[in-house]
Amino acid sequence: MSETLRPAMPGSEATAVAAERRWALVVMAIIGLLVLMMIVTGLHWAAMPPSRVETVDVRTLHLRGEFVESNLGTSLEPDGRVMVRLIAQQYSFEPQCIVVPEGLPVTFRGTATDAIHGFIVGRTNANTMLVPGFVATFTTTFPSAGEQLMPCHEYCGTGHEAMWGRVQVWPRQQFLDRARPGERLNCVAR
Ligand code: CUA
Repeated sequence: MSETLRPAMPGSEATAVAAERRWALVVMAIIGLLVLMMIVTGLHWAAMPPSRVETVDVRTLHLRGEFVESNLGTSLEPDGRVMVRLIAQQYSFEPQCIVVPEGLPVTFRGTATDAIHGFIVGRTNANTMLVPGFVATFTTTFPSAGEQLMPCHEYCGTGHEAMWGRVQVWPRQQFLDRARPGERLNCVAR
């Protein structure tokens, strides 16, 4: 039913019909593009292997395994790596004050007991979410000695803004002098 077959139609109406049809095509093209984007991104994500996922049982976190209280803090592993284990809970970190050496790679392993928490250490790139049931891990190096603040940066409830820890970066030799194999270091005042 093209306009050319209907000479009775005034010129302005024919123009309007043509314009409407054009815009209908544009709208359909936009919808088609959006659907195509959904399909392509969906397939792309489905085809990607998941990043490393490590789970932990929240119910037994305090009772056994890696995250029992006596195992939290900083350790010098038998292979010489520096490891920090911590947990987050409403509204504190355990331990509240963490010791790391200056200039050595430090691996953090952390999880949460109750809600999603997270932390960032001062102006460093140490930054992760802590999700109940999952172990977050990353390795970083602290280039300069000193104390850094470590706030929780995921909204975790009414006490969120008061949830802070501290990180003390000790000179490398001081750290190595104090670290004993099998012991857990922290700087929580006793
Ligand atoms: Cu923990 Cu916000």
